[in-house]
Amino acid sequence: MDQTGTDQPTATKLITSPKCAAQLLRAGKLVAFGTETVYGLGADATNARAVASIYQAKGRPSFNPLICHYASAQAAFEHVRANALAESLAAKFWPGPLTLVLPRRSDCPVSQLAGAGLPTLAVRVPAHPIAQKMLTLMGTPIAAPSANRSGRISPTRAAHVMAELQGRIAAVLESGACEVGLESTVLDLSSETPVLLRPGFITREILEFKIGQLNLAATPGTKPAAPGMLASHYAPSLPVRLNVAVPMLDEAYLAFGPAPPGALTFQLSETQNLTEAASNLFEGLHWLDEHAPRHGLAAIAVASVPEAGLGLAINDRLSRAAAPRG
Ligand code: TXA
Ligand code: MG
Repeated sequence: MDQTGTDQPTATKLITSPKCAAQLLRAGKLVAFGTETVYGLGADATNARAVASIYQAKGRPSFNPLICHYASAQAAFEHVRANALAESLAAKFWPGPLTLVLPRRSDCPVSQLAGAGLPTLAVRVPAHPIAQKMLTLMGTPIAAPSANRSGRISPTRAAHVMAELQGRIAAVLESGACEVGLESTVLDLSSETPVLLRPGFITREILEFKIGQLNLAATPGTKPAAPGMLASHYAPSLPVRLNVAVPMLDEAYLAFGPAPPGALTFQLSETQNLTEAASNLFEGLHWLDEHAPRHGLAAIAVASVPEAGLGLAINDRLSRAAAPRG
């Protein structure tokens, strides 16, 4: 494994067995699989390192929160807190192309990176029989964005995935052509009023036809007021200072490799491995934000991280965390 974190093998296999897919996923590998909407690029959602390699394979310049796929509503609701509306939507539309954003339970084992450090998690139960089989065999949720390179169109056939991600992931599970061909509808139920975050195959009209009128909030604008305030990302409450080799006396330290003795430190990666650093990033920010004040510290200083490979996404997140607060 090198510094840009090429954790994944170079020859991508086309496989047909959900069991083999589950085995690879359990071993921390990336496997693309078909759902009824589009092909997803899957990793074991509870394995932070595997989740970090999703961003690496997609070439994502930032850490968007990912959807976690479950075999059943019951399994999903063990990790997030469902309200009555979530339960009735799940009963009508799962398995199917609907994603619900709900508060994480405190014992939710999904990695912080999969949810971009947020207190909520997007969950969905796909209907595709092959995905269902694989999820049942896995027993843990599978985090999966669409299986395309960042900025490209979503794949609806195994061949599309191969063309995009050959050499970057372990395998593609042949699942045929996706029936829907459009991403799932994303509905945020984590606050009082539901918010339609992404229109999808299940329209507002279909939702309302099944469950009655939905009092949807206006979809929030995509342009945040200040980069540090980006609604869809966790922001630490303490001020953040970047590119620091030696923290000041009132600062806790987010280290990447060498760490000065004595400072309250969270280590992203002792060996300066970017995949490992990405997998620890949100854990580290949360941990320092919680522990620094207890030690009388007022800020978080962050080591510099190289602007290469996953370093781009890490630095994007860090610069948002350090941006002036609105
Ligand atoms: O159909 C689909 O949904 C496909 C298949 C593979 O399931 N997946 C997919 O994932 O389209 P992705 O990562 O491309 O889109 C996830 C969407 C993004 O718009 C993201 O911002 C939103 O879900 N999302 C995920 N977690 C969220 C959260 N905690 N809060 C708000 N939005 C969230
Ligand atoms: Mg996508």
